[in-house]
Amino acid sequence: MREEQVTNGIQVLSEEEQKHWHLIEASIWGTNSRRASDHFSSPVSDTLLDQPRWIQPHFLYDEKGSRLFEQICLLPEYYLTRTEDEILSQEAEQIISLSPAQCIVELGAGFSKKTTHLLREQLRQREEAAFAPVDVSLSSLIGSRDALQRQLPDLSFHGLCARYEEGIRSIEKTTPTLFAFLGSSLGNFDDSDLKRFFPLLSDAMGSDDFLLLGVDRIKEVEVLERAYDDSQGLTAQFILNVFEHVNRVAGGNFDLEKMSYASSYNSELRQMEMSAVSTCDQEIRLTKEDVTFLWRKGEGILVEISRKFDPDQLLQQLRFYGLESVAHFSDPREWFSLLLLSKG
Ligand SMILES: C[S@@+](CC[C@H](N)C(=O)[O-])C[C@H]1O[C@@H](n2cnc3c(N)ncnc32)[C@H](O)[C@@H]1O
Repeated sequence: MREEQVTNGIQVLSEEEQKHWHLIEASIWGTNSRRASDHFSSPVSDTLLDQPRWIQPHFLYDEKGSRLFEQICLLPEYYLTRTEDEILSQEAEQIISLSPAQCIVELGAGFSKKTTHLLREQLRQREEAAFAPVDVSLSSLIGSRDALQRQLPDLSFHGLCARYEEGIRSIEKTTPTLFAFLGSSLGNFDDSDLKRFFPLLSDAMGSDDFLLLGVDRIKEVEVLERAYDDSQGLTAQFILNVFEHVNRVAGGNFDLEKMSYASSYNSELRQMEMSAVSTCDQEIRLTKEDVTFLWRKGEGILVEISRKFDPDQLLQQLRFYGLESVAHFSDPREWFSLLLLSKG
């Protein structure tokens, strides 16, 4: 497996940015330092002291969280992965022929299982392909690298263990790139995340670049609520596991026995909301951040949102960031959309 920053003559990272990255695993790079401007570097307590209290969703993906998310993707109730996978398997040929890129950069790639349809097609149509998954979860990147090495040995794998922003900033602008943001991960963004994310991404994209955006659509409330409160309790485990991660990062004393999982659809904001609710009055201490607060019985901490989209409205919104629709793919029930966009 290649260890250089240039893979098969395809330059993934810009010359200027290469000094910020170092190899942490075969074919996987990490950033040397968090940059001061990166709002993600702020202490966990910042959002826990907000009213209402909340947690940045990337904390969900420690090793256990990443594994639990993979199991959720297989649940009968969690239609998102299955539906997007079906669309990708049917439309990969067209998506790749419409977006003549040398490199596929996947933001929040996880184990990149669905992306295999695109990568296989990329190799078939172009004969060479670089894949640069960007993810905060090292265990997912390792899983993705090992599986792809077996399935597609001709693929140049260039994992970037980092936050979206760090990956986007570092990609070489002159390499024709297909950015993929799948799994409706966009739905985890609130309005302010969205307003930060799209200008950055649009700025990083050149006229030869494309964006493939997978988004979950508005549908019956029962279908949505079932998808985030499965009968096996895996989603509850996934959401509450964030507190184990926060305890490690911030020296916290969150006790999973003293909280319960709650999820519901907020029809005004068109989003699923996943929270932990305190089952008693309890004092929470985050020793590494020198913070103490009272978490009252019945009070929720919002751990994740999953927004649901009207694709036409979203396309209109994306035009504002200079992103124009190239093609729109959906499933027969119109539950999920894959939007292919270019810089217009
Ligand atoms: C909802 S999962 C989607 C995984 C995969 N793309 C899919 O469609 O199944 C979100 C993924 O994004 C990663 N992630 C979450 N927040 C991130 C961030 N701020 N920067 C980079 N990766 C992030 C997680 O580790 C996880 O693998």
